[in-house]
Amino acid sequence: MADSDQRLRHLDIREGTPDDFQTLARIYREAFPEEDLLPLVRALLQDGSGVLSLVATVLSTVVGHVIFTSCRVTGQADKVALLGPLAVAPDWQRRGIGTALTHQGLDRLERASVSRVFVLGDPGYYSRAGFAPETHVTPPYPLPEEWRTGWQSLRLSETELEGALEVPAPWRRAALWLP
Ligand SMILES: CC(C)(COP(=O)(O)OP(=O)(O)OC[C@H]1O[C@@H](n2cnc3c(N)ncnc32)[C@H](O)[C@@H]1OP(=O)(O)O)[C@@H](O)C(=O)NCCC(=O)NCCS
Repeated sequence: MADSDQRLRHLDIREGTPDDFQTLARIYREAFPEEDLLPLVRALLQDGSGVLSLVATVLSTVVGHVIFTSCRVTGQADKVALLGPLAVAPDWQRRGIGTALTHQGLDRLERASVSRVFVLGDPGYYSRAGFAPETHVTPPYPLPEEWRTGWQSLRLSETELEGALEVPAPWRRAALWLP
């Protein structure tokens, strides 16, 4: 068994703190070498309100991170959330850490009575956690045709929702919703 697999027995997930930021900056640069998500991550964490930031640690080393942002659907009272970004350090990918972060976040949101979680991402990955194509709630910016199947959601309650997703300021940049 590889060393990293043995160390995975010590995988823990906790809420992020300001002290994690330097490590998160490195993880995002390594996991997304062609995309600078740090301004978004920084803005979400600085704003803080309505943001669930979870870090995955192995023996106290931060190896992954996910953010869930509280949002609204136009004209609806339901609490909903947007998943993203999600990143796992390259040396730690494909060991279930991204899945564990996603499930932990979904559990917490369900307990907080959030009814739906949206994501724009690879359906091949997010369908594994139960996400399915979203057609009744539109994303904040129109998506190019090739990204339409990437707009997905996961139901945490039976509530029907219809409208447009309203996102807080850090997410209101068209470039974040373009290929
Ligand atoms: C995508 C990412 C968050 C997944 O985290 P992870 O800890 O590596 O993922 P997990 O170990 O939980 O799941 C891995 C499984 O998902 C699959 N998987 C990973 N990325 C995938 C993708 N884009 N499409 C389909 N399947 C994918 C892997 O094949 C693997 O399955 P296998 O073990 O059966 O081969 C991580 O690889 C990462 O940070 N990648 C770079 C940044 C990125 O692309 N983030 C956007 C997510 S859409």
